[in-house]
Amino acid sequence: MMGSASARLAGVIGWPVAHSMSPLLHDYWLREHGVNGAYLLLPVLREKLSVALESLQATGFCGVNVTVPHKVASFAVAHELDELALATGAVNLVLFRDGRLLGRNTDALGLQASLEESLGPAALRGSSVAILGAGGAARATVLACDKMQAATIRVFNRRAERAEFLVTAMRPHIHAELYACAWADWPRAAKGIFLLVNTTSGGMKGAEPLDFNLDGLPFGACVCDIVYNPLKTKLLEGARARGHRSVDGLGMLMHQAVPAFEAFYGVKPRVTPALRAELERALSHVG
Ligand code: ATR
Repeated sequence: MMGSASARLAGVIGWPVAHSMSPLLHDYWLREHGVNGAYLLLPVLREKLSVALESLQATGFCGVNVTVPHKVASFAVAHELDELALATGAVNLVLFRDGRLLGRNTDALGLQASLEESLGPAALRGSSVAILGAGGAARATVLACDKMQAATIRVFNRRAERAEFLVTAMRPHIHAELYACAWADWPRAAKGIFLLVNTTSGGMKGAEPLDFNLDGLPFGACVCDIVYNPLKTKLLEGARARGHRSVDGLGMLMHQAVPAFEAFYGVKPRVTPALRAELERALSHVG
């Protein structure tokens, strides 16, 4: 953290928030660019969201990132929403401008940048994608894959009705053909899939494991897991063992922070191998 009386202030609100990697990321860029700014961990209880946003705005913060459990509630309290926030129904960045709360969602841009970096900008054009999960992260993934011109997107969820709900809500926002699928439909659908993305919390540290079998996925297909703690999830290890190309969750984490840093501090930062190495080191200590 650099800091002085005129430092630009930002941070991340969530509960719990102590585990967040965002301060490490933003501090790295603050140092790299010599910005007079600070980025703080801000623990905020679910029922204190509105009062916290008001107070942070009143104390001169320029904005905050938003994490669990506030992403949907921030959508509801924002005065203005960008197109990606509207399409996902969730906000991960709130900017304070002239007494107003501007709600944005940078998760889709972050995943798109990560997939483009790992697989190439045209990798998904005309292809078929499968998404596991039907929460906010799945919605951001639908948008990212649609922007990369996937032809077909299939959303698989344990509770099939939640996948149906997502598909109905998102169809008007995208070009790709979008289908809801039950978990049990996977073996039949697998053979046409080019990219599988896990957006569930299954496999995350402290959460239930993801019980999912990659059998049937074609040899040339790619597997992406947006979970980054642990970085080597069981799903990705299984994918690598079968010879699939894989994309881990760190790319999305780094890239979703780029527009936030730029909005807070006025400098567009770069995602570099050195930044990835710093985050990998930190994750290996978190265990
Ligand atoms: P987010 O908004 O971060 O995506 P969420 O709204 O809590 O999170 O959604 C979590 C998703 O992960 C859901 O799709 C959930 O499936 P259900 O709707 O059937 O509960 C899915 N999920 C969580 N743990 C899972 C597990 N162990 N296996 C499969 N799916 C899981």
